[in-house]
Amino acid sequence: MIKIHMELKKLEITARKDIKSAKNLKDLDDIFKKYLGKKGELTLILRSLKNLPIKERKTQGKIANQIKKDLELIIQEQKHKLQASSFKIQDTGFDITVPGKKQDLGHLHPLTLVRRKVEEIFQSMGFSVVEGPEVESEWYNFDALNIPKEHPARDLWDTFYLKQKKLLLRTHTSPVQIRYMEKNQPPLRIIVPGRVFRHEATDAGHEVNFYHIEGLMIDKKGKVSVANFKAIIGEFFKRFFEKEIKIRLRPSYFPFTEPSFEIDINCVNCLGKGCSVCAQTGWVETLGAGMVHPNVLKAVGLNPKFWQGFAFGVGMDRLAIMKYKIQDIRLFYGGDLRFLQQF
Ligand code: DAH
Repeated sequence: MIKIHMELKKLEITARKDIKSAKNLKDLDDIFKKYLGKKGELTLILRSLKNLPIKERKTQGKIANQIKKDLELIIQEQKHKLQASSFKIQDTGFDITVPGKKQDLGHLHPLTLVRRKVEEIFQSMGFSVVEGPEVESEWYNFDALNIPKEHPARDLWDTFYLKQKKLLLRTHTSPVQIRYMEKNQPPLRIIVPGRVFRHEATDAGHEVNFYHIEGLMIDKKGKVSVANFKAIIGEFFKRFFEKEIKIRLRPSYFPFTEPSFEIDINCVNCLGKGCSVCAQTGWVETLGAGMVHPNVLKAVGLNPKFWQGFAFGVGMDRLAIMKYKIQDIRLFYGGDLRFLQQF
């Protein structure tokens, strides 16, 4: 029994030495085989234990197994060390000791940020978010909105026509007013964010494709007034720009509203004092709106004697330009990371 014990101790000491001095993975593999392989020294001792009386077998077995575990562990450690240094020595171009590169994280486009903010504000005031198709018929984009064929107002919304008969790229998200009212009875409150198109020359303020948000609120006659509209839109601007914003209504013209108005807000840049953004006036035009024209209600089968409401339309790009003080609308669609990464 003492003999085996001594043998094991000796074996452990030399094995440890051998492992530590292994210079490469091949050496290490040979050392593994020498001690722990099928015919390895330790393996043979372990096998021979079965010839011992049971008591001895137990104590010696315990010691031998512990040594086996320890050797396996330090072989693993040595293996990792050798692997690490062999990468460097062979200069494979891959140095595992160099600190890792940070992955760039993507983020939301400024127009998506604006869209989500607008949706959140209006949803909190009871409006549902509704969408509609980008390819529209003349009926939804024009006729049902009280813009008959040959009406000069169609010039304002020049667009791209598809080869198929009377289909076009929508010029505003106003057609969704019609689509929604055809399927849903008032009272109703919706906003319609979405992509729109215009046949236009591009410049800092114009693009052939941009984003709109349409709003619509209809209720029984006498229940929704211009005053309601002013309060709702005032609350929207305050929460959107996160500051007190003054608004004013100016008379205007849209075929689908009567009366129609344009909404100006206090210039967010100079807070109304006058600067280059607002051409020294202190006011910036932001939104078109009005009380829904009786002909629009009739187009969806609602009787204007019983129902009334307001509608508005605002450019999402315009909102983003004001919120983030951007100089050129084309930046939104250029895909230039130097611009996008600022948000
Ligand atoms: N559709 C208009 C545009 O394309 C925006 C607009 C103005 C929408 C007045 C409305 C409205 O609903 O009442 O510029």
